[in-house]
Amino acid sequence: MGEARTSVLAPAAEQWDYGDFPYGLEPLVIPPCGYGVVATVQPADLLAVYEVERASIDAEPARDGVKPSSSDALYWFRWITGHQVTFLLWHLMGAHVKAIAAGRSADEATLTSLESYTHGYSTMLGYSGSCPVEVYQTLIRPRLYLQHRGFSGLWAADFAPLRRLLRGHEQPWMTGPAGARLAAAIATNLSAHEALADRLVSGGKSLLQERAPDTVVRPSARTTALFDNLFVTLRAPVDRDTVIAQLFRRLRAVRLDLVTNRLDPAGSDEDWTFDVLRRVVASALTDRERLPS
Ligand code: HEM
Repeated sequence: MGEARTSVLAPAAEQWDYGDFPYGLEPLVIPPCGYGVVATVQPADLLAVYEVERASIDAEPARDGVKPSSSDALYWFRWITGHQVTFLLWHLMGAHVKAIAAGRSADEATLTSLESYTHGYSTMLGYSGSCPVEVYQTLIRPRLYLQHRGFSGLWAADFAPLRRLLRGHEQPWMTGPAGARLAAAIATNLSAHEALADRLVSGGKSLLQERAPDTVVRPSARTTALFDNLFVTLRAPVDRDTVIAQLFRRLRAVRLDLVTNRLDPAGSDEDWTFDVLRRVVASALTDRERLPS
């Protein structure tokens, strides 16, 4: 008894068995207590959120919105919120892919939604990663490293069902002009990811690639939790309307940010970004009616 107690309180370095490496973190799963999980948007708010979204998209942008308190605050917001939008887009894409696998036809509206969301994902790569290289190297990458030294996009749970599609393997159901447009959107997305990685990290090496082979960790429930946790994402059974409402809320915030702070002082294609966001909203509203839950 005394011995076990001693080893728990004072483990020798070689006995470290917490996390994937000494001082690595472990996700905590804890029962709800007190106030429970905070949901910021209820499905009933969806239409109200959409009305504001549509009005703000149609309005002439005012470029004098609230400024962030610091450059770190701005780029951390973009890093986290851009990823959250991406997760929501992947989720909607995954629902389409699942429905097609279950026998629903990949009609033009479906292929168009998949194309809009893929472009949406590409704009979010540009948005999340719009920071100067120095900010990525001193603010963002060190946080990923501290979360896990092999932190990787491979751990994104919502991406997993889309891996084949988004790696550019053409699917038999990608037919006709709408199928070709989806294939082109995927090719653009792959180039956007590569260009972003090269811009932010010379040589484009991820933390995972830098650490290999000493800390290669395969995707698991544990890596999903570590990944989700960095991006302030909890898992709970919420319905499609709640997914779409959370998407619109974030798109509105992204738009307000872009209108106020611009995407990139060097002048990236902001008009394209706004156009894509409009298309994402239109597709999500169509999907709200027709995508099976
Ligand atoms: C803006 C945010 C980013 C998102 C949403 C993102 C997303 C992803 C996803 C989903 C994967 C898995 C791809 C697959 O399985 O086919 C991945 C892998 C990868 N990403 Fe990113 N990525 C981002 C930024 C970056 C950056 C800045 C780098 C710079 C090094 C990078 C480098 C890589 C590499 C090398 C891989 C291959 C797997 C690995 O080594 O971790 N990504 N990324």
